[in-house]
Amino acid sequence: RMGGAGWLRVAAAAGCAAVTCALATAMVARRVVAWRRWLRAMAVLRDVEESFATPTERLQRVVNSLAVEMFAGLASEDASKVRMLLTCVDSLPDGSEEGIYYAVDIGGTGFRFLKVQLGPGSTIINQKIERQPVKKELMEGTSEDFFNSIASTLKNFIEREGDEGRALGFTFSFPVRQFSITSGSLIRWTKEFSIEDAIGQDVAQCLNEALERNGLNLKVNALMNNTVGTLALGHYYDEDTIAAVIIGAGTNACYIERNEAITKCQCLLTNSGQTVVNVEWGSFRPPQIPLTPYDICFYNETTNYYDQGFEKMISGVYLGEIARLVFHKMAQESDVFGTDVDGLAIPFILSTPCLAAIREDDSLDLKEVGSILEEQLKIHNVPLKTRRLVQRVCDIITQRAARLAAAGIVAILQKLGRDGTLCGTTRVRSMTGVPKRSAIAIDGCLYQEYSVFREYLNEAVLEILGEEIAATVVLKVVEEGSGMGAALIAATYSSTRNNSI
Ligand code: BGC
Repeated sequence: RMGGAGWLRVAAAAGCAAVTCALATAMVARRVVAWRRWLRAMAVLRDVEESFATPTERLQRVVNSLAVEMFAGLASEDASKVRMLLTCVDSLPDGSEEGIYYAVDIGGTGFRFLKVQLGPGSTIINQKIERQPVKKELMEGTSEDFFNSIASTLKNFIEREGDEGRALGFTFSFPVRQFSITSGSLIRWTKEFSIEDAIGQDVAQCLNEALERNGLNLKVNALMNNTVGTLALGHYYDEDTIAAVIIGAGTNACYIERNEAITKCQCLLTNSGQTVVNVEWGSFRPPQIPLTPYDICFYNETTNYYDQGFEKMISGVYLGEIARLVFHKMAQESDVFGTDVDGLAIPFILSTPCLAAIREDDSLDLKEVGSILEEQLKIHNVPLKTRRLVQRVCDIITQRAARLAAAGIVAILQKLGRDGTLCGTTRVRSMTGVPKRSAIAIDGCLYQEYSVFREYLNEAVLEILGEEIAATVVLKVVEEGSGMGAALIAATYSSTRNNSI
């Protein structure tokens, strides 16, 4: 028989067991909740994986539609999603240029000032490049302030460098309708620039006036898009260079076209019978690629809303932001980033170089991913499995971007009948039917500095073209192509020589 104390012990034991049981149940319940939240984050990931997918067959259709748009853009103005702007460049440097030339390169994230000394036989004897990041106020201010700032920095640069060279190449990396090699009006801004009063202005004249205001006795000898500068430098070293591509803050391409193919301008007379066409492929919207909720959401917060669809899926101004939007969604759906996630609500807080660094972190514990989340987004102590998730998202976004850029490159080859499908003109094929060697010059930090991006792009070109044709295509990094090429074209156009393409 149990005494009173015995009953008490039993009751205490039972109480303990009940408490332990309740604690265990609470823990299990918490784990279930955490697991469910994790599953919700995984569901977001699965959705991103599906909606960002670019299988080869879909890419091939993107190639075909861009090539069709290119044909339409050559047939008439405003008939196409791509502008196919005529650049007034019908001569490219051939390596015989000599002398000292200056160039100003206005890109998406910065200004570059160059002094280049050219010698015979494609020799660059000397080059000096100064870089200056562009301030946000200038990107949104007045045209006068913008061009004054360029002119005064150029003046300082020339004063430091000595006043020898006279010809000036001007790379202006926005859509411009050119009237001549030395003039052209800005059609619109892209890459989040918005200097309203510059639209419709002759940008070469704006720079000339600012140079005069700053007491510089210098005028623009050649105005060009950055793709055209890149083509010039590519061609300087390799005559088989038929096109150039920029994949940096923005994206675009240009290529050498036969005048007869440019039906919108039938009386085009050039010495070479060819003209460089600036595709402006950033404004292409591939109908085969669905806009994801992240693309849509982000369209609402950028200056040119629904325009520049291709550019927004590919280029450096935007990729980091797409990733931020995915992480924000994950943070709303789950607690994978913890509770202190205000950083994720700030537009454009995650830059594309950070996205690249996250993707390229190959340490076992993804240390770099952790520090970027801490430093850029102020999210602390992110567990390893979430860091893996973050890396996977950056990978998916990179892959779609690189594969779409690859489709763009193949579309140009198709337009020129060099992709093996005979969809374009067959004239450029040699008589034996063996495709010609095609070199494509590529400039821009995404392709140059982000090796994963480069590998995905190269892989996709191979995938779309197949081995045999891909073997005839050379993708070449042309560093500082846009600025150096401007100096080269200034040299070509300020000399009396006649360098046919
Ligand atoms: C512009 C192009 C430029 C490209 C790359 C785009 O936003 O419209 O003119 O070539 O960016 O910088």
